[in-house]
Formats: sequence, structure tokens, C-alpha cells
Amino acid sequence: MISPWHPSCSIFLLLSWLSLAESQKVAIIGGGLSGTFTSKYLVDLDGKGCNLDSITIFDPLPIGGPAPTSDDDWQGSRVSSVALPDGRIVELGASVFHEANQLVKDMIDNDPALEIGTPFNVGNDATIQHHVPPREGLGIYDGDGAWAYMGNKSDPWNTVKTVLRYNMDLYRVDRATQHALESFLEIPALLNSTAPDTFFESPDDMWQRVQLLKPTHASYSQLLDAMGIWAEDSWFHSLIPHGGYLGSLRRELLTAINLINYNQPNSHINGLVGLVSFAASKGPLYSVVGGNQQMIRSAFSQAQTNRRQNCQQGDGLNVVTHVAQRVTTVIGSMDGFELFAGQEVLGTFDAVVLAAPLQQCRIQFLIPSQFDSAVLQPMPLANAMVDTDKAESQKDHEGHPVLPDKLPDCSRRPFTQVVTTVVSGATLNHEHFHIDKDKLPRAVCVTERGKEKEGGITVISEIAGDGVYKMFSSNVLSEDTLKGLFGPGHTVEFVKTWGGPHGGATPDYQGQGVSVGYLLYDGATGLEGHTKNGALYYPNAIETALACMEASAIGAKSVAKLLARRFGIIQPSSRKSHNGEEL
Ligand SMILES: Cc1cc2nc3c(=O)[nH]c(=O)nc-3n(C[C@H](O)[C@H](O)[C@H](O)COP(=O)(O)OP(=O)(O)OC[C@H]3O[C@@H](n4cnc5c(N)ncnc54)[C@H](O)[C@@H]3O)c2cc1C
Ligand SMILES: *[C@@H]1O[C@H](CO)[C@@H](O)[C@H](O)[C@H]1NC(C)=O
Ligand SMILES: *[C@@H]1O[C@H](CO)[C@@H](O)[C@H](O)[C@H]1NC(C)=O
Repeated sequence: MISPWHPSCSIFLLLSWLSLAESQKVAIIGGGLSGTFTSKYLVDLDGKGCNLDSITIFDPLPIGGPAPTSDDDWQGSRVSSVALPDGRIVELGASVFHEANQLVKDMIDNDPALEIGTPFNVGNDATIQHHVPPREGLGIYDGDGAWAYMGNKSDPWNTVKTVLRYNMDLYRVDRATQHALESFLEIPALLNSTAPDTFFESPDDMWQRVQLLKPTHASYSQLLDAMGIWAEDSWFHSLIPHGGYLGSLRRELLTAINLINYNQPNSHINGLVGLVSFAASKGPLYSVVGGNQQMIRSAFSQAQTNRRQNCQQGDGLNVVTHVAQRVTTVIGSMDGFELFAGQEVLGTFDAVVLAAPLQQCRIQFLIPSQFDSAVLQPMPLANAMVDTDKAESQKDHEGHPVLPDKLPDCSRRPFTQVVTTVVSGATLNHEHFHIDKDKLPRAVCVTERGKEKEGGITVISEIAGDGVYKMFSSNVLSEDTLKGLFGPGHTVEFVKTWGGPHGGATPDYQGQGVSVGYLLYDGATGLEGHTKNGALYYPNAIETALACMEASAIGAKSVAKLLARRFGIIQPSSRKSHNGEEL
């Protein structure tokens, strides 16, 4: 249907129709994992067709470089690998990925220069001569000298002790996690498919398809309740003499790993986050040898190289480029979008991919007012996909559309702050934790009580045996706190705050889901999406349900597919072979 209120709709339609045959310009705002992976996936989909005129990534920082640590004003990529003075690499942001993270692994496998290595160390054991491997063990500290749980993978009795402590609860969570993992593993093949129902318009569509929607819309606590796993000790604990070996999985282990991974208790994260977090705690986990941020640099250069091989280049056409600018304003128009950095015009684009959280990008999204095109008004984000029925109800008495003046729910949800601190030349003060020196575990994790008692610290982890420790905490740790933990001799190497007014590590899930589509704004609304004009896509929509590197890659690939379909680069196929593959 053609929108009745648009005065120039027929011209608009004609222009849009003509533009079908034209090549398209794509702007990607944000050169982190989401942005660079989107560029690579777009290039793959476009292939030798070379329909995309150009792909431009805007990011004020170098692609695949570390995030700034001194200036918290601009957070930068949440994958940030930095070097200690002796050259060993430490991750300040995302440090590990799970075996089931297929898209991340594929990106690494595509690049012969990249190697998958083991996590929690400051380099590849084989290549770093002076690297002393860290100790073993994971302990959960409850504050005031009390330890809730001690695990040690090298201890032959470890599994038995853990199973005894948590018994049926462990089995139940294990099974649910295994189930979720199997569902999760279906996603890469669905994203490769061109079957019509694999063009997921929203993360919810995808979770629904792999039967993981429910846990994204409930809190992890609710999920655990449903599984009969309680935070209190089981009723039979008191009946067992010398039952000190019994504990609450939910209050101890599950809480500890969610505090490490998301700095949120079970009641805040959603069910899916909880399941993924538990899967991660079981491993196997990996990292990129020499630093995870190489993966981001590689995704970008893979996009450039593939483009060079696939398409003839001339006059700046068919290239994938990085422009070191911070986008401040995006204005939708009849021709697509105009991007600005302050007063400076950055260019006009047919499609824009916002590959950074709305909460953090500090961009004004505007469109010309329907009543006076010289007046700009807020772009109605996340309201673009209203179907015609709903659109009727959003018109005023004269038939003009009524535009919501608020941002979508997903963008009003705050992000949780995490501070990463790295110290070297340190010895963790075992007396502080009321424990023998040789019993001190490699990773000191906490219960909610322990976190409170330790001033917001969620984990202290030895990452090299010669006294390199990494910590996560809610706030910057004071000198006194650090002195209490490590004595006076240590060196503070890095303090990185993922937070502040314009930053944060992962969304505060607030114990529930938010539904948001990947298409934040459709300039062609009213023409029912038949035109190609003005599409604003948002891979980070997926973060509202799950935030990790693989999720970012999934968001990126979902958006690349939607964009390629919109541009007519790929067509949904209807025919399927007997085993479900496309013909
Ligand atoms: C402390 C911490 C630990 C983590 N641990 C793990 C882990 O172990 N495993 C895991 O899988 N995940 C982990 N994560 C999550 C993971 O880092 C993120 O999910 C992922 O990196 C998000 O990537 P992104 O590209 O979507 O966003 P970001 O990394 O936030 O990238 C956004 C980019 O956009 C740019 N940008 C923003 N606004 C603009 C603008 N207006 N103009 C131009 N450019 C702009 C920024 O400079 C930045 O480079 C962790 C995160 C943190 C903070
Ligand atoms: C872990 O177990 C191994 C083997 O039993 C032992 O040598 C080591 O000291 C233990 N570590 C801790 C922290 O208990
Ligand atoms: C999806 O496609 C990519 C690239 O063509 C390939 O490397 C990957 O193995 C495929 N994954 C699945 C699950 O089919």
C-alpha cells in the first residue's frame, strides 16, 4: 500500500524502483566486533555481484586497536587487548569464547594468521618463554573469612566433591544448559540458509525458531525456580550429620559465574544469559593467541581482501574503508541518510548499520518534519516495522502519522559498569582471605555477600604465575583496597572502566526481556518496504537478550542478510532439498 499522507509518494516509488538497479552505499557506525563482522558478512553475500557500491565503517578509533584506558569519555571496542611492558597480552574486555561459538571460530579459521589458543593466560605458553602458568583452582568467597566452595580441576576428587555438594541441582542445570547449547548450535546453519523463514527480523524471531525465546523473557531466578533449584539450602541438609560439604548451587556457583561474566545476580540476568554463562563455566574456552582484538582487525581485512578479489575497483567504488570519525548526527531524507560529524558532512548512504549500543553511541537520529521539511524532528526509532493496521491507529485526525517522541525501550535500559584492573609483580594476600597460602585458588570468585564485603569485587584471577592478576569490580578500586589485597609492592598496569554515563559492559537485563527488531528505522515505510531507501539496521539489538562475542556475530550476520535481501542481492529461496538445504 502507498502511504496516503505522503505528497510525493509516486515520485518516491519511481525513484526507488530505479534505484533497484543501482549500486548501494552502506555506512557502518562502529568498528567493534559487530561492525567489522557485518562488513565481512555483507561482502560475502554480495560476492561477485558487486552490488554494493561501498561499505564505510565509521569509528573514531583504529579498527582492532585497544580501547583507550586513560580517557573514559570514549569507551571504545569492548574487545581490547593490551600489552604488559614485557609484551605479554592481557584482555581488558572480552577474554574468552566457548567451543560452541561457531561464527567466532569461523572468522578465526578464515585467517591463516590467526590461531586459537587457551584462555586465562597472557600469551601462548609455547611462544612466551618467561610465561609461568597460573595456579589451579576456583574458590567462592562468602566474605569474613568464609569460603563457600573450592574447586580444583587437578584434584582427582574434584568432580565427586562438586557433585556431592550440589547433587541433583547440578544435574538439572547441566541438562537445561546442554539443551540450550544444542538449540544454540542450530543458529549458524539457519543464518547460512536463504529459506524465507531464516531472515530473522528480530532476535526474538530467531530465539523463537530455536526454542530459546522463553528463557530470554524470564529472569534466571525464575528459570531456576521452575527447575526447582532454590537459593536456600535444601530441607534435607539439616538432617544430614556433618553435612558441611553440602551447598546451594544457586547461591554459590551460579551466582559467582554470573557476577564474573555479567556483574549481575541471578535475579537480574535473563534465563538465556544464565544458561550461556553456565555453559561457559564448563568450557572448553578459547581465546585468540596474541589477543582477541586481532579477530576484529582480521574481520575488517578479510572484508577488504575478499572485496578486492571479487570486484573491480575504480573511483573509490567497491571498497571497504574505515573513516576515523565519530558520527554525531544521522538525518534521514528521501535519498537515504546523511551522516555528520559535528558540522562536517560525512556522506549520504542508502543504508546505515548502527553497530554500537544506542545507549552509548551519542548520535542524534533525525528526520525532516512531515509538516515542514526545514524542521527536523527525532527519528521514530524501532517503530518502523508497524504493520498497516497498527499504523492506522498511529495517525492523527487528519491522517498524519503521529510520531512517538521517546526512544525505544531497549535504548533506555542502562548498561552495567565493570572495571577491569590488571596488576603485576603482585602476591595475593592469603591472610586477607583467611586461607593457607597453598590453598589459595587461581580465581577468587564471590557470592553476593562476598561481593558486598569485598567492596564490589566480582573476581580476582591470577593470569600468570609470576604475579599478574586481573580483577573485575563494580567501581574503581582504591589504593587502600589494592594494598590490602596485594601489599605495597605491586604495580598497577591497567585500569579500564567499562561504564560511566556513556558506556558499560553489558545491558542490565532487569530480569526480563525487551523485544526490538533489527530494523530500527525504515525510510520506506508507507511503501511497504518495496523501496530500498533509508534503512537503519541495529545488530546490537541482540544484546538485549544476550551479550557476548558470538551474539554480536549472530546480530551482525542477521543484519547482513536482511540488508542483502532488501538490496535484492540475495533472494529468499523457497525450494528445499530433502535434508532441508537450499537448492
Ligand atoms: C569487561 C568485559 C568482559 C567481557 N567478557 C566477554 C567474554 O569473555 N566473552 C565474550 O564473548 N564476550 C565478553 N564481553 C562482551 C563482548 O565484549 C561484547 O559483547 C562485544 O565485544 C560487543 O561488540 P560490539 O561491536 O557490538 O560493541 P563495542 O565493542 O561496544 O563496539 C562499538 C564500537 O562503536 C564505536 N562507536 C560507538 N559510537 C560511535 C559513533 N557515534 N560513531 C562512530 N563509532 C562509534 C566505538 O568506538 C566502538 O569501537 C565482555 C565485555 C566486557 C566489557
Ligand atoms: C589442586 O590440586 C593439585 C593436585 O591435587 C594440587 O597440587 C594443588 O595444590 C591444588 N591447588 C589448590 C589451590 O588447592
Ligand atoms: C556457513 O557458511 C560459512 C561460509 O560459507 C562456512 O564456513 C560455515 O561452515 C557454514 N556453517 C554452517 C553451520 O553451515
